[in-house]
Amino acid sequence: MPLAANTYLKVVGAPEITPAVSCEGVSVWMGENCILSRIHTSFPERGVTCLVGPSGAGKSTLLRSLNRINDDIDGYSLRGSIKIRDRDIREFTDITELRRKVGMVFQRPCVFPRSIAENVLFGVRGVKLSAAEKSELVEDSLRRAVLWDEVKTRLNQSAMSLSLGQQQRLCIARALAIKPEILLLDEPTASIDPTSGRAIEDLVLALGQDTCVIMVTHNIPQTKRIADHVLFLCDGKIMESGPANYMFSSKSDNQTRQYLGEEFCDC
Ligand SMILES: Nc1ncnc2c1ncn2[C@@H]1O[C@H](COP(=O)(O)OP(=O)(O)O)[C@@H](O)[C@H]1O
Ligand SMILES: [Mg+2]
Repeated sequence: MPLAANTYLKVVGAPEITPAVSCEGVSVWMGENCILSRIHTSFPERGVTCLVGPSGAGKSTLLRSLNRINDDIDGYSLRGSIKIRDRDIREFTDITELRRKVGMVFQRPCVFPRSIAENVLFGVRGVKLSAAEKSELVEDSLRRAVLWDEVKTRLNQSAMSLSLGQQQRLCIARALAIKPEILLLDEPTASIDPTSGRAIEDLVLALGQDTCVIMVTHNIPQTKRIADHVLFLCDGKIMESGPANYMFSSKSDNQTRQYLGEEFCDC
């Protein structure tokens, strides 16, 4: 029997999980256009949730609403509530505090015209760190992002000299340096070569062991490889969500199976 979207945390056989993020009745408008409609779901403390669905479904809008990056868009409005643990994201008067809890990596690598090391440390500027602590953080973040070996001899060179795949891993290192509790990734492998893409998948899998990772992807084989949970969005609504093994099984909705099988939907 298909699961209603709001039963996401109540899947039979699933262990009790504390949500890191919960969305209750979230609807989003851009001016007059309703982009997301009554999103009711939650994302567990650990593990990788893949947001999938056709282009224009609202995946990026949902992801970007979670750390209030959409707030700056003219005409953007949100109804309902998004909570990080038990705290409504609107309660964060200091947006930097929210962004330190909820890190984000975009589809196109967004590096600054500064050195590799400065890029890694960008999110912690303003935090008092000794030179040794900074070096340690740079190394640790780059190692976790599987980039250290490629850049360790040129940390002071411009980040613009890196390949696209390396730049994307640098963006991930920058996100990791703030030690986020929740990591949002919007199609992080879409604009890079397959080898770097696999390195990022391995990293996402490792991060999911102790972090809440929410990742938009268009790539169904990738979803199969890395997702613990899958949320299928279409036309601004959650069609179905649940553990990956359920979503990829014959028990999921016809529309889910069609989308995950043929990457096509007529919902
Ligand atoms: N800044 C914006 N202003 C107006 N409409 C937008 C804006 N951003 C996204 N949209 C619209 O919202 C819908 C969902 O977009 P998006 O969340 O980017 O979808 P997806 O990531 O699933 O491809 C699309 O119809 C898109 O045109
Ligand atoms: Mg998108």
